[in-house]
Amino acid sequence: MCGIIGITRKEDDGPIGKHIYDALARLEYRGYDSVGIAVIDQDHIQVKKDKGPITLVGKKLNFESLEGNTAIGHSRWATHGPPSKINAHPHKSMAGDVVVVHNDIIENFIDLRNELIALGYKFISQTDTEVIPHFLSHQLQTGQSMEEAIVELVRRITGTFAIVIAHTLEPEKIYAIKKDNPLVIGQSENIMYCARDVPAFLPWTNKVVTLKDNELAIITPEDYQIISLPSQEPVERNPHEVTWTADAAQKGGFPHHMLKEIHEQPRVIATQLATQQKQFEELGEIITHASKIILVGAGTAYYASLTAFYTFVKMGGPIVVPCIAAEWDTVSDLVDDKTLVIAVSQSGETLDTIKAVKDGKAKGCKLLSVVNVTGSSLTHVSDYVAYIHAGPEIGVAATKTYVSLALALWRIGFNLAKFTGKLNQREMSEFQQALQSISSVVADLIRKYEAKARDLAKWMSTKNSAFYLGRGISYGTALEGALKMKEISYIHAEAYPAGESKHGPIALVEEDYPVIFTIPNDHNRSKMMGSVQEMKARGATVIGIIEEGDDQMKDTLDDYFEIPKGFSRFLSNIAYIIPQQLFAYYTSRNKGHNPDLPKNLAKAVTVE
Ligand code: G6P
Repeated sequence: MCGIIGITRKEDDGPIGKHIYDALARLEYRGYDSVGIAVIDQDHIQVKKDKGPITLVGKKLNFESLEGNTAIGHSRWATHGPPSKINAHPHKSMAGDVVVVHNDIIENFIDLRNELIALGYKFISQTDTEVIPHFLSHQLQTGQSMEEAIVELVRRITGTFAIVIAHTLEPEKIYAIKKDNPLVIGQSENIMYCARDVPAFLPWTNKVVTLKDNELAIITPEDYQIISLPSQEPVERNPHEVTWTADAAQKGGFPHHMLKEIHEQPRVIATQLATQQKQFEELGEIITHASKIILVGAGTAYYASLTAFYTFVKMGGPIVVPCIAAEWDTVSDLVDDKTLVIAVSQSGETLDTIKAVKDGKAKGCKLLSVVNVTGSSLTHVSDYVAYIHAGPEIGVAATKTYVSLALALWRIGFNLAKFTGKLNQREMSEFQQALQSISSVVADLIRKYEAKARDLAKWMSTKNSAFYLGRGISYGTALEGALKMKEISYIHAEAYPAGESKHGPIALVEEDYPVIFTIPNDHNRSKMMGSVQEMKARGATVIGIIEEGDDQMKDTLDDYFEIPKGFSRFLSNIAYIIPQQLFAYYTSRNKGHNPDLPKNLAKAVTVE
């Protein structure tokens, strides 16, 4: 999410505001809703910011006229508080001595905010970020140095972050800290940069120092110092030279946004799990008060909802009905004031979904939206909002947002189970364990299976048609796997509940026909073995996503991807989709297509 740039220099080589403007423009690919700049000198900090694109805001506020030798800039993608001038970064302390830009989330900001309010600090924004300048300014006033104040800050805050700080007492210095969120330093002669991503400063220098978690960088125009926290031991790290082109750099070195977003999944999972704990607990209870739940969404969001349908049914609670947004009319008459509609949407702008929930609201339902984009249209009509915190997704085919939507819905299911008592203690701890390890398991799967997916894609790209089969929740996973394949490779890929395939689809199967099976080791596994055999007997080439160690399946399948144990009952729709995303991505590339921009498709569909 969000872009960060900091510049400190010895000599004036033109208005610093112009450099910040250019750097922010190069970070535009990250997606954002507001921009801002702060120029720091001994007497004061000048901040200019507003909602809107850099080309409009930068021109309207005349960034290019801003003179000075130290400046920080930010492009914000709203998480706490809607996009607005006040919520845009940078944020200044009340005394006007400290200024901060920040990416990601300070999880315990409410506690810190209350402490600071009790000390007399006044908050003007709704952001979590604003606690940082007030906190640091307060520590400086107690006589601490900025370094000591930052050590204290890092001790106090929880969550994930990349923070860049400047202050009037040392106007030539920029301080930077990070945890689970990237920050890089760019080194040039008598000028140093600090940024979220290399492209921000790539035209000026390719000498890059990458900060690691819990490191503090103190950056001056001539040098940088890295200090490990909390020990405060100095760290020696020399710059390395990057050889990327600007375009490759915008994709973090990946050839496509889609592949970058697949690789981002472990991080977005961890980020989401670090947030909204209390809110998800409350949602579990809210669900139990409804007489029925209608889950509504489109495309990938619908498939995530469909998998939640299977989950919620298993967790107990009210009747659950999944509904494709464009088919809302079918369920409209079921809605009353005891109904909870759960709208699932990455963008929060899909018109079919918005129309559906507006009809539901008119009939008196309560509305919970599970969305990615803060302040999007859906959030305005909702009674409750759960954010998935996946950051902007540029690739048209959803990957990290599917996983993040599914994760948020699992979290609701987990909290629902606490109230229904449907799961015993052992099952609850298995579930908890799956939630805790899913981020690292997804990272391992990507590492382990990227090459294999690429190899298998060579064969797949010679095909015109494929089936994706699953049962129960894995039918939802199969639908999402098939959608990925058809969206970006243009191969006809159709998902069916495995048991249904013998009622028609099987007529199409011939020698070497691809059938992709999603087979966690759940109560459906033995029936899935029957479906595999049926397809194999007709000459199909059968590929399975299976549980690790399922030797019987391994002997039967032509090829397979193994998913670690612990994800067959819980979170299977997340773990088992990962190889399928990679498979679709590499098939698309093999066929010479651009997976980021599939023909005829739009990222957000705002027409009926
Ligand atoms: C479009 C996109 C899909 C997406 C669907 C729903 O069709 O191409 O990737 O799943 O819209 O979008 P939403 O923003 O509501 O999740």
